[in-house]
Amino acid sequence: APAVAPVIAIDGPAASGKGTLARRLAAHYGLPWMDTGLLYRAVAMGVLTRGAALDDEPVAVAVARALPADFADDPALRTGEAGAAASRVAALPGVRAALLDVQRAFAAAPGGAVLDGRDIGTVICPEAPAKLFVTASAEARADRRYRELAARDPAASYDQILADIRKRDADDAARAVAPLVPAEDAILLDTTHLGVEEAFAAARAIVEQRLGRA
Ligand code: DC
Repeated sequence: APAVAPVIAIDGPAASGKGTLARRLAAHYGLPWMDTGLLYRAVAMGVLTRGAALDDEPVAVAVARALPADFADDPALRTGEAGAAASRVAALPGVRAALLDVQRAFAAAPGGAVLDGRDIGTVICPEAPAKLFVTASAEARADRRYRELAARDPAASYDQILADIRKRDADDAARAVAPLVPAEDAILLDTTHLGVEEAFAAARAIVEQRLGRA
């Protein structure tokens, strides 16, 4: 058995493909996976449900502390609106602090875990042996998002999606607490020109090199 639990930390901007990579790596290695963006999405939706503003920190912190165990099951969390709202509550230091323990506890599973988000390698799991920072050009990410959405929504607009992605990148990178930056020891994986299978193979190679096993 490896000396350290195989914690795989995956960070990157919206629609970089980090979620797909995290899910596939978790399945491949038989590890539990936490999509930490869902925590922020659930807090944002909880705040809106209570009729509060997205920058109402006391309400957002109360919601974060009381998230139900099955919070991730709500399909409304996957919408673009939930993502944009999540980005707002994610800028509140109290919310980030309130969500720290649930993420650290998940990462402490004795067999290891995969977590994806914005600050896994920098704040949540600074000791993770394998860190990936997944990027792709804003255009490539908008194109992927557009293809996903256009299948369901004929009114989807590539230009709108690209504008939303650029705004979210700027907001996530500019916030004062836990801005989106690669950990010093993260390996960058640019998926702009990679298909899903190529990106997965590249991610696996990085993880196996870091965990010292094949
Ligand atoms: O990965 P996502 O699109 O589901 O994340 C939604 C928002 O939540 C994102 O704009 C920033 C925030 N987030 C964060 O600040 N830290 C994380 N670990 C995950 C998400």
